[in-house]
Amino acid sequence: MSSYGRQTTSLVLYFNFHFFLSLFCYLPVPVVFSALSSNQQTTMIDLSNSLNASAGGALPWDVNKEPNPCSWKGVGCNSPTNSFVIRISLSGHSLSSSDFLPLVCWIESLQVLDVSSNRLTTIPPGFVSDCGKLGELKLLNFSMNNLVGPLPDFVGFSGLEALDFAQNNLSGSIGSELDGLVKLRSLSLTFNHFAGHVPTLLGKSKVLEELQLSANIFDGPIPAELVGYKNLTLIDLSGNRLTGSIPAWIGELAKLEVLNLSANKLSGGIPQSISNITSLWRFAANSNDFNEKIPGGITKHLKNLDLSYNKLNGSIPSDLLSAMNLQTVDLSNNRLDGPVPETLSPSLVRLRLASNSLDGKIPSAAIATHDKLTYLEMENNNLTGSIPPELGDCRKLALLNLAQNQLSGALPAKLGNLSSLEVLRLQSNNLSGGIPFQITQLPKLSILNISWNSLNGSIPPSVSNMQNLINMNLQGNKLSGSIPVGIASMDSLMELQLGENQLSGDIPRMPTSLRIALNLSSNLFQGPIPETLSSLSELEILDLSNNKFSVVSF
Ligand SMILES: *[C@@H]1O[C@H](CO)[C@@H](O)[C@H](O)[C@H]1NC(C)=O
Ligand SMILES: *[C@@H]1O[C@H](CO)[C@@H](O)[C@H](O)[C@H]1NC(C)=O
Ligand SMILES: *[C@@H]1O[C@H](CO)[C@@H](O)[C@H](O)[C@H]1NC(C)=O
Ligand SMILES: *[C@@H]1O[C@H](CO)[C@@H](O)[C@H](O)[C@H]1NC(C)=O
Ligand SMILES: *[C@@H]1O[C@H](CO)[C@@H](O)[C@H](O)[C@H]1NC(C)=O
Ligand SMILES: *[C@@H]1O[C@H](CO)[C@@H](O)[C@H](O)[C@H]1NC(C)=O
Ligand SMILES: *[C@@H]1O[C@H](CO)[C@@H](O)[C@H](O)[C@H]1NC(C)=O
Ligand SMILES: *[C@@H]1O[C@H](CO)[C@@H](O)[C@H](O)[C@H]1NC(C)=O
Ligand SMILES: *[C@@H]1O[C@H](CO)[C@@H](O)[C@H](O)[C@H]1NC(C)=O
Ligand SMILES: *[C@@H]1O[C@H](CO)[C@@H](O)[C@H](O)[C@H]1NC(C)=O
Ligand SMILES: *[C@@H]1O[C@H](CO)[C@@H](O)[C@H](O)[C@H]1NC(C)=O
Ligand SMILES: *[C@@H]1O[C@H](CO)[C@@H](O)[C@H](O)[C@H]1NC(C)=O
Repeated sequence: MSSYGRQTTSLVLYFNFHFFLSLFCYLPVPVVFSALSSNQQTTMIDLSNSLNASAGGALPWDVNKEPNPCSWKGVGCNSPTNSFVIRISLSGHSLSSSDFLPLVCWIESLQVLDVSSNRLTTIPPGFVSDCGKLGELKLLNFSMNNLVGPLPDFVGFSGLEALDFAQNNLSGSIGSELDGLVKLRSLSLTFNHFAGHVPTLLGKSKVLEELQLSANIFDGPIPAELVGYKNLTLIDLSGNRLTGSIPAWIGELAKLEVLNLSANKLSGGIPQSISNITSLWRFAANSNDFNEKIPGGITKHLKNLDLSYNKLNGSIPSDLLSAMNLQTVDLSNNRLDGPVPETLSPSLVRLRLASNSLDGKIPSAAIATHDKLTYLEMENNNLTGSIPPELGDCRKLALLNLAQNQLSGALPAKLGNLSSLEVLRLQSNNLSGGIPFQITQLPKLSILNISWNSLNGSIPPSVSNMQNLINMNLQGNKLSGSIPVGIASMDSLMELQLGENQLSGDIPRMPTSLRIALNLSSNLFQGPIPETLSSLSELEILDLSNNKFSVVSF
């Protein structure tokens, strides 16, 4: 009896289990789990109507086509049950009316609201007061709108971690509007018209990690209060009107990774304490008025350093360019003197030392082993000696600019090994000897400027190999002989400057690609002006002056 009973029970259980399985497998899942609360369902439909009105019917939310708001584009619900809305993204819908915003605050479970890239001009007061109560709200993105007026006063928003107002038209100074945001980790106010001092009340609990205030009109000094935000990893104050110097306490922000102070009016020196920040990999302080010597050691941990366009003086510290991780350094347009340091980091990709008063030789040993170096710019200095042939070993080199120095000696044939070279500028030096044919073997070269040197001999006939060359400037040398006939096939050539040499002979057919200029002035050409020049229909400047061309008389 009892055993029979047990059997029956298990039979029933078996059937139930099977029934459950078939429900699970064969009916559409959303029907089983469609559980967005009726409150949120109603709110979402109200929101959709409000948006539809302001977007003129352009919004892809249509409850008649898709009854479940969790499936609407830009809407995210909790998974897997889809029982409440956690994310609303209305980025890029050309919305200009803010009327819908207070409705959003009915969604208590909302974590992310992204209304970036619209045309909103105001934030209704009701939005701040109501949404401030949403304890789950973590991210508010109002970037790329047309918001005007002052920053709203944020009351509540106790869970807000990221606030983005970048690229609006907000103005006024900032006091305590943000201080209530106790969880704020990321703040962006870039590209607005905020003025006054850099805000310092950025969340009472000081957990801020990213502070982006670039491209405003903040003035005054870098405020000392910032040192209290020990979790800062990113500070971008670039493009403001900050004055004073960089405080030494910056070295106490031990988690800092990126520090951008470029394009301000900061002066004084670069603090040595920068070298204490082991996590700092990017530091830009270009386009300010820094006017002291660069301290040693500051690149110890850096990958990228930009100190260009300042008034830094003294010589470059011998260790500055040698740090193992260093990839890009820009010290151009300063008042640096003395030699280029002997040791360069093996990681260097870009080195810009242009427009200073550096002297001495280009350190050949330092340069020889640099297989990552891609951009080397040392123009407009006082460098002497010859161009080290070792530069030919920098296999990645795409740009070499040593123009406007006092370099002498020969143009090294080994530069012909630079198979990636696109731009070679060596003009306004004192180079002598001939143009080695190897230079014409550079397959990618598009700009060759070796004007205003003392190069002699003739133009190698192999120039016609340079099928990618756009500008060839050999002006102001001592070149003799005739122009190679093969020049006609240089199909990319748009500018040919051969003036002020001692060239002679017949003028060959010129490439029809010539556009910018053909300058043959001040040479020794004679005879009639060739008729073939008339086929250069796109040419803007043709200068044949100061030769001995014969005047055709009838
Ligand atoms: C959206 O608005 C358009 C007209 O502006 C209307 O035709 C359409 O029915 C509306 N859609 C919804 C879902 O309300
Ligand atoms: C805000 O939106 C813009 C554009 O959609 C995006 O680039 C930016 O990263 C977003 N900000 C945050 C903090 O997520
Ligand atoms: C920002 O405001 C200025 C006037 O203060 C106005 O000229 C400009 O067009 C506005 N820009 C945008 C993107 O609204
Ligand atoms: C900094 O971050 C750590 C962990 O990310 C956190 O424990 C700490 O409270 C934060 N705040 C400060 C002020 O250090
Ligand atoms: C670097 O940090 C150490 C230890 O905190 C400190 O003694 C030293 O003065 C700091 N150096 C600079 C240049 O600030
Ligand atoms: C610093 O900011 C300027 C302007 O905002 C920007 O152009 C530059 O790329 C930034 N530099 C670094 C190193 O982040
Ligand atoms: C650098 O310039 C400052 C003034 O800006 C001057 O006091 C200092 O002597 C200069 N140093 C060198 C090495 O020229
Ligand atoms: C180069 O050095 C000479 C003297 O050696 C000096 O007169 C000249 O100003 C220097 N030029 C530059 C750009 O530093
Ligand atoms: C480098 O250039 C030299 C001199 O022009 C040449 O002898 C050598 O073969 C070249 N090496 C390579 C790898 O191209
Ligand atoms: C250029 O070099 C020649 C020797 O090749 C030398 O006589 C002349 O003085 C140098 N000119 C300049 C301006 O350094
Ligand atoms: C080449 O150098 C000369 C002299 O500095 C300059 O005038 C010319 O613009 C340069 N050409 C190119 C294409 O860079
Ligand atoms: C080029 O000039 C050098 C001196 O710099 C001279 O030795 C050589 O003979 C000259 N070559 C020609 C072809 O004039």
